[in-house]
Amino acid sequence: MNLLKRGLLGLLLATFSIIIAAEPAMIYPGELWKDNRGEHIQAHGGGIIRVNGTYYWFGEDRTKGLDRSRRYVSCYSSRDLVHWTFRNQVIKLADPEGFGPKWVLERPKVFYNARTRQYVMYMHIDGPAPGESSGYKLARVGVAVSRTVDGDYRYLKSFRPLDHESRDIGQFIDDDGTPYLIFEDRPFGFRIATLSADYLSVAKEVCLIPLHLEGGAIVHYKGLYYAIGSGLTGWRPNPNKYATAKSLAGPWSEFKDIAPPETNTYNSQSTMLLKVTGKKGTTVIYMGDIWKPQTQWDSRYLWMPVEIGDGKLKLPAPKPFRLDLKSGLATF
Ligand code: GAL
Repeated sequence: MNLLKRGLLGLLLATFSIIIAAEPAMIYPGELWKDNRGEHIQAHGGGIIRVNGTYYWFGEDRTKGLDRSRRYVSCYSSRDLVHWTFRNQVIKLADPEGFGPKWVLERPKVFYNARTRQYVMYMHIDGPAPGESSGYKLARVGVAVSRTVDGDYRYLKSFRPLDHESRDIGQFIDDDGTPYLIFEDRPFGFRIATLSADYLSVAKEVCLIPLHLEGGAIVHYKGLYYAIGSGLTGWRPNPNKYATAKSLAGPWSEFKDIAPPETNTYNSQSTMLLKVTGKKGTTVIYMGDIWKPQTQWDSRYLWMPVEIGDGKLKLPAPKPFRLDLKSGLATF
């Protein structure tokens, strides 16, 4: 009898610890976020793609003490979106086209092209105009490729998409797999465009939203597209805004604040909307950067599930959350 009791107790304890272990780990918006090496993740202005059930997070690597003449992009992998393994500095690029010492590489975004079996990275390439010493005057996109998701990406070229100026870029992959580049065209506004079959160039404009928004991101949720973006205030945060449309080509609704404007989007700037669908539902995560312009390596990430539906999108006040990838639900 005693033995039986002990056995039952043991079983109960084992089940209990499995339940505890199975509970997803927490994401702490705005806190230091350490990788498997114990180092703060360097994936600023980033983007995420999912390949065979693994998430890959790419972004600007602004680690203190890196060679100042080079620009770096790092890649991390995760199966739960919480624990990230550093994979590789996939870009460690010296000025590839004689842009000058102040050249800029920002907001890398990676697409996988199943036809060519190539990973294609888009990035914002910029720098001062020839003869000037500072500024974002080149306004181009750069393209680099790799055979493997976390390989050393080979820089191919830079250009102005569809002959337009392009500063902040964003990526959107629709539910049918169609890839889109979002880019900020300073004279005209927020553009959404398709890529060529090999993804190496920008093919066709889908829409121009005549508003000056950067940090552009889009998600498709229950039959509506939601686009978000920030105002043009550089590293300083501002009230980010959203609009909706039934088709990417528009018409787009009026843009509204995603959070109370006095919070300046809780001091963050949008970089991506990540959609996680599970058996019970879908969670859309706002991925934002909390920039620290003087100590860029310490810039933080504000990830937070948004309240979304029926044409409304709201970024709630940040608080720690768990994301259950199986159910697709977030809990607080
Ligand atoms: C922001 C932009 C960042 C970076 C910064 C430079 O507006 O989103 O990616 O370019 O300006 O001031």
